Formats: sequence, structure tokens, C-alpha cells
Amino acid sequence: MAILILHGPNLNLLGQRETKIYGDLTLDEINSKLISAGKDFGVEVRVLQSNHEGELIEALHQAQSWATGIVFNPAGYTHSSVALRDAIASINIPVIEVHISNVYAREPFRQVSLVSAVCAGKIVGLGWRSYLFALHALVKDN
Ligand code: DQA
Repeated sequence: MAILILHGPNLNLLGQRETKIYGDLTLDEINSKLISAGKDFGVEVRVLQSNHEGELIEALHQAQSWATGIVFNPAGYTHSSVALRDAIASINIPVIEVHISNVYAREPFRQVSLVSAVCAGKIVGLGWRSYLFALHALVKDN
């Protein structure tokens, strides 16, 4: 069993980016915690971050050949990308949408998600643990 944790644009700058909103852990630190949680759950966790929509789409497609589920923070693309929504709707493994911040307590444009309707579930506002709880949910599903 293996899970993909997929991070969208600008999440490579976690640790320096708007730390009051996103916390001060770097992406590497968050990924280490998730890989280690995966070991505890008995699941292989692979991680990928991209700033490019097409690369994210290809990662979603390719994960079908090896992953049992995907934890996905589409970041800014959440609010704008029809192509990512279509990719999630087209694949045959569950995707859980996550956000570090509570997007519902922020600007109105962040409260619109083009991907939520095609995801298996959604976790927001729990900091890096949004990913952890989504990982746990995917492991429990299997
Ligand atoms: C985010 C929320 C998005 O609105 C924003 O564009 C991000 C990060 C989050 O994890 O809270 O880049 O997805």
C-alpha cells in the first residue's frame, strides 16, 4: 500500500511564506513527519511538490499505477483550475483535498473550491496536521 502526498504551488516556500497563516515548518519538515507517520501506519508515503499545473495533473494520472490514494493540497489552483478538477474526476483512486489554513475564515475567493465536489473528502485549517488526518483516513479506508 502506498499513498501520494501532493503539494501545489508556492508550498515549497513553507517556513518563510506568511508564517502567521501557514506556520513555520518547512515543506521538508512536514514531509518528514508524514513519511514517519506512514511508517507507523504501515504505509509507504511518497511526496511531490510542483508549481506547475501540468506536472500536478501528470502526477495524479501516474499515481493510479502505484498508489491507493492521494492527499492533495492544490494550493492556489484550488480556486481556479478546471483542469485539476477534471484530472481528479478522471482517476480511479480517492483524493482527499487538504488545506493548511482555514480557507473559510479568509478571503471570499478562497472559499471557492473547484475540486471539492470530485474529492472523496476535505480537511482544512488544522495546519500540517490537515495532511496527517487525511493520510489516516486513506489508510483506514483500506
Ligand atoms: C492553501 C490555501 C490556498 O488558498 C492558498 O492559495 C495556498 C495554501 C492552504 O494550504 O491553506 O497556497 O491551500
